[in-house]
Amino acid sequence: MSALLDDPTKALTQYVSHPSVSADSSFSSGIDGARDFACDRLKELGFAVELVETPINPVILATRGDESWPHLVIYGHYDVQPPDPLDLWSSKPFEATVRDGRLFGRGAADNKGPQIVHMSALHRVLKDNPDLPLRITYLIEGEEEIGSPSFRGFLEERKDSLSGDLLLVSDTGSPGPDQLVVTTGLRGLAAMEVRVYGPKQDLHSGVHGGALLNPLQALMGACASLHDKNGNVVVPGFYDDVVPPEQWEREELKRLPLTEESYADFLGISEFFSATGYSPLEAIRFCPTLEFNGVGGGYQGEGSKTVIPSEAFAKITCRLVPDQNAEDIAEKVKRAILDACPSAVRCEVEVKGGGDPYVVIPPGKPGSLGKETDLMKKAFSVAENCIEDVFGTKPIYLREGGSIPIIRDLKEVAGLESLMIGLFTNEDNLHAPDESFNLDIMEKAIKSFESFFKELAY
Ligand code: BES
Ligand code: MN
Repeated sequence: MSALLDDPTKALTQYVSHPSVSADSSFSSGIDGARDFACDRLKELGFAVELVETPINPVILATRGDESWPHLVIYGHYDVQPPDPLDLWSSKPFEATVRDGRLFGRGAADNKGPQIVHMSALHRVLKDNPDLPLRITYLIEGEEEIGSPSFRGFLEERKDSLSGDLLLVSDTGSPGPDQLVVTTGLRGLAAMEVRVYGPKQDLHSGVHGGALLNPLQALMGACASLHDKNGNVVVPGFYDDVVPPEQWEREELKRLPLTEESYADFLGISEFFSATGYSPLEAIRFCPTLEFNGVGGGYQGEGSKTVIPSEAFAKITCRLVPDQNAEDIAEKVKRAILDACPSAVRCEVEVKGGGDPYVVIPPGKPGSLGKETDLMKKAFSVAENCIEDVFGTKPIYLREGGSIPIIRDLKEVAGLESLMIGLFTNEDNLHAPDESFNLDIMEKAIKSFESFFKELAY
């Protein structure tokens, strides 16, 4: 019987064609389309598929296998980031196009391509071994790119069906088609929005300037007070709970086939600016940050306008590392902003949620406790061999700078540790125009995962 997963590129093309943007409700039919696409593939693979309703987008929960078999849970997300700015795309974001060995389209790398990799590999394995003695639960959510607001509720309700031995995730990065990374940590996230209110309406800056504090000036002052001149965060207590990395983690980083020079080139900057005592490649993994993601207020159009704006805002997120806690950091940053904002304006800080950082110590590495499930021990070593066989090098074990907050929640609530195998690269332009997925990585990764699933079961 022919199945769409016989042709992974075609399958990914179709998956990408559903514009499943979770941030914008006008894309709801794309959400439905991508969700149905994923359900259909899982049914084709012989899974029993259930859609679990949530306040926003349903979670796909699908299962195969016997309760007595080792139990692997596989995570993915069918939602994608908005495609904007549209005019910077070389081809249409939801009409996948193959150029230079890459498949271009929004969500191609984050996270539809990696899901097609897992599914295609399973398809090949199950074709020959329909009774593969491995219990698998698929968990594909539709709200990852908006911070998984419904996930905690889903988890509390369904944690029993997720009581597996290990979580497999491919939603992180690697250097390229010759070197994969097993991701050993994700940064946490604390998000907030600051609003500063001044006069009840915009004012003529000549008629009234000098009589009152400009909200933009107050906001910029408060924001600027959060770092010192070296870029360290000076919010009281911000670094209190930070645990430094293990020596082996710093050593592992030396295997990364990326020099500081090539990284600066990639970023298009002439100079790095990292926390004291850390190289830039260390800082993105081991250090927390406080970043301004957006700021606004006053006149943004062409030319000048002499105005004192009535309001100003800033959107801020902090990336967190062990053992920082998202709620605690958000409170500390909120307090520092309120303290720094003069009383001549009104300042509000709204905490927008986030998630705690996650770290997994690979079995056998310094610091591991030896208490891992059998499946976890087996999976890390099988993954290392299957990756080396196809990619020619052993994976590097590295923490990532990005965040998938629910990974930590799955550990806390369902006791699941994660094996995260990175399949996208810096060149894939995640969240940016011209997102793409490297088809060489896709084909190699399918081969690796084919032996991975087989060996895990027998
Ligand atoms: N797949 C990414 C997370 C990621 C990116 C991990 C790069 C490792 C390397 C995920 O889809 C994502 O973008 N997450 C958001 C989280 C947020 C929306 C709560 C992020 O990291 O900004
Ligand atoms: Mn993602």
